[in-house]
Amino acid sequence: MPRISVITGSASGIGRATKELLEERGERVIGVDIHDAEVVADLSAAEGRGALVDAVRKVSGGRIDAIYAVAGLAVPGPATVAVNFFGAVATLEKLRPLLAGSDAPRAVVVSSMAALMASDEELVALLTAGDEQAAMARAEVLAKEPATGGLIYSSTKLALSRWVRRQAAGPEWAGAGIPLNAVSPGVIATPMTADLIDTEQEREGLLKVVPMPLNGIAEPIVVARLLAWLNSLENTHLCGQIVYVDGGSDVVLRGDSVW
Ligand SMILES: NC(=O)c1ccc[n+]([C@@H]2O[C@H](COP(=O)([O-])OP(=O)(O)OC[C@H]3O[C@@H](n4cnc5c(N)ncnc54)[C@H](O)[C@@H]3O)[C@@H](O)[C@H]2O)c1
Repeated sequence: MPRISVITGSASGIGRATKELLEERGERVIGVDIHDAEVVADLSAAEGRGALVDAVRKVSGGRIDAIYAVAGLAVPGPATVAVNFFGAVATLEKLRPLLAGSDAPRAVVVSSMAALMASDEELVALLTAGDEQAAMARAEVLAKEPATGGLIYSSTKLALSRWVRRQAAGPEWAGAGIPLNAVSPGVIATPMTADLIDTEQEREGLLKVVPMPLNGIAEPIVVARLLAWLNSLENTHLCGQIVYVDGGSDVVLRGDSVW
């Protein structure tokens, strides 16, 4: 029987590349997105998150092998909070019971190297506390100015990476035999970044902020291959790692302060 994987954000970019890769390898993929997906669900709201689980249970027959929480937004507003943090966490928590019947359950989420950039301490604290209403209200305030609106995305990714670190070794994940990890990409050429990397000048400007000395801006398949390995049978012991697939940004920005 082929492995059954659920991928959110499957209609575009990294999620789509991952879906195509797994399907080429003979896996069954249940794609989830707000459009063009087997399961159409809006992960920005409780209703859509509930619909996701019901639909996945139905189409999978109640057993899945791997979760890929990829869906995300980069707009400087509250929707980014709802999708990137609460949507991703809900995907992982709500689908986790369906991994119970798998011989090799796995879960991975896409964070970002943006977690290393400036963030809003108050928003990160509200996200970490799981207070969606207050986090959305804080994002509304930050969204009023371009300078602070830019902190929303990085804050959601910082909180998401921390969530993975805090959960992965616990009873629900490691204790249940489920490796839970994150990948943090650098700049990837997808519709999310298309407007930022349109011209050579824009690409050069962005790479000054997100240095990628190893091979520069990457295609989504680069991230897809790593995600697929993290959720493969070969990965038995990676636990709570934030794996940077960023052409070297993490190394350049943080040097040897992490080990
Ligand atoms: N592209 C990059 O440079 C980059 C870098 C670091 C991290 N990321 C992260 O990678 C992930 C994938 O991004 P991408 O670059 O492939 O972007 P993308 O815009 O190509 O794809 C994102 C997908 O998520 C879906 N989505 C958005 N809101 C949703 C919602 N409410 N409910 C369900 N699905 C929703 C979109 O419809 C889209 O198909 C995101 O989490 C993003 O933050 C991207």
